[in-house]
Amino acid sequence: MSRMNGRQILVVGATSGIGLATARALASEGARVALSARRVEKLDAEVAALGAQHIAVPCDVRDAEACKRAVAQAVDGLGGLTDFVYTAGSATLSNVADATPEQWHQAFEINVVGPSLLTSAALPHLAKSRGRALYVSTVASEDRPPRRGLALYSATKAALNRLIESWQEEERAVGFTRVTIGDTHATEMAKDWDPAATGEIVREWVAKGFLYGRTMAPEDVALHLVDLLALRETVPFSSLIPRYPEP
Ligand SMILES: NC(=O)c1ccc[n+]([C@@H]2O[C@H](COP(=O)([O-])OP(=O)(O)OC[C@H]3O[C@@H](n4cnc5c(N)ncnc54)[C@H](OP(=O)(O)O)[C@@H]3O)[C@@H](O)[C@H]2O)c1
Repeated sequence: MSRMNGRQILVVGATSGIGLATARALASEGARVALSARRVEKLDAEVAALGAQHIAVPCDVRDAEACKRAVAQAVDGLGGLTDFVYTAGSATLSNVADATPEQWHQAFEINVVGPSLLTSAALPHLAKSRGRALYVSTVASEDRPPRRGLALYSATKAALNRLIESWQEEERAVGFTRVTIGDTHATEMAKDWDPAATGEIVREWVAKGFLYGRTMAPEDVALHLVDLLALRETVPFSSLIPRYPEP
């Protein structure tokens, strides 16, 4: 398929998991992709595999100047920008009572402030092309009661949800979409979590019915994101949460 022919897309969070799968899926459907994240060697290796029409754009989204530079590099390297996809995320496993100031700052910087600064920089280019901005959020921002252990994550993703709505209220030349995703395997999201604490908390989430006994593959989430970008209409909100049938 070549549904993304002519599209010039910045994907932030493109070195692993959902972002990497999305960059690959967009490229396979004809888009030119600027892959962005912190790990330069991974970005370079992926661009080498995907082809020279794609570019690597190193960026730590906690650095405001780096965000501006990343958008400028993407626009220069791709010859414009039609779409922006934000998949970077930070998920700390911690009770609220134990959360450190550093953990709070990191959660807000990566899940809220970074995507907004990148959006600000990308906006004139997206508006020119009547483009789209997609942000990956999480079912954990809506779970009732909140999942124990994910307070920083769910609070900052809930802030992201409202931020996206505010962007759309202010800007009508760009279509903004929040994509709420259920649990997804084969990503690096939990790579820094303590294994024993993770085992215990996941058993609790399963017992409370949060995981529905299912997780998704990043490639399936990526397909959904590409489908959303291929639609002529912007949907403000989309949800992809695994359910039935049992495999
Ligand atoms: N996995 C799940 O179960 C799940 C469920 C619901 C929602 N989500 C959401 O889906 C999105 C993707 O998650 P994932 O599971 O695919 O996680 P992942 O494999 O850990 O990918 C996260 C990506 O974000 C990048 N990143 C992290 N910190 C960054 C920073 N400071 N600056 C720039 N890039 C940064 C990472 O690259 P570098 O380390 O190279 O910078 C990586 O490419 C996240 O927003 C997450 O909240 C995930």
